[in-house]
Amino acid sequence: MNTDTKQNEEKKLAAAKATGFVKNGMIIGLGTGSTVYFAVQILGGLVKTGLKIRAVSTSDWTTRLAQSSGISLISIDEANEIDLSIDGADEIDKDFNGIKGGGGALLFEKIVALSSKRNIWIVDESKMVQKLGDFPLPVEVIPFGFKRVFKIFSERNLNPVIRKKENSYYFTDSGNFIFDLHPGLIDDVEQLNVDLKLINGVVETGLFINVVDTIIVGKNNSVNIVNKPSS
Ligand code: 5RP
Repeated sequence: MNTDTKQNEEKKLAAAKATGFVKNGMIIGLGTGSTVYFAVQILGGLVKTGLKIRAVSTSDWTTRLAQSSGISLISIDEANEIDLSIDGADEIDKDFNGIKGGGGALLFEKIVALSSKRNIWIVDESKMVQKLGDFPLPVEVIPFGFKRVFKIFSERNLNPVIRKKENSYYFTDSGNFIFDLHPGLIDDVEQLNVDLKLINGVVETGLFINVVDTIIVGKNNSVNIVNKPSS
């Protein structure tokens, strides 16, 4: 099995397991990305055979996918509280902190996650790391004055790269830029998150700290379910 196929199989297994936590009547947060794709497909199948759920989407991409799978959507403001959110991640460290935003949806993903009673992340094994930072850290930045923010990131040795799609700038669903930072392995995720958020023009970072409750890791032909110890 080549690496891509193995990762896809692991993503599929993790996604299938996560859908087992979805119960009738729940409001579900739907993340964004290739792993969530499998979860939405499976949930769509369950809806066709009678599962009653409503979902809050984290991106235009997920909205289209959910609609084509027959899943009813409501806006985040119609949902008093989200029962359970299922999302992917780019990296997860041993303390259950994560980097997200590889798919550019980090802002809505974070808002949906913070509005959820329970957050499940579904990943293939390659996403599990000791320390965050190998994966570029996405940060959402408003277009107004973005060169100033770029300069600040550069001066702090964060090695920013403005994300592009084909030959044009990539814009998020909110019309902002994504700056992919390369800080190296991150010693203090909380401090970095605060430092980044204090820069005017930064909307949100891809550091998800104290967000996830349960990680479902696809590993070869099985899954590992890891619950965050309650503090
Ligand atoms: C999108 C995300 C995704 O959850 C993350 O990039 C993982 O994606 P995939 O499941 O395709 O590996 O944060 O903004």
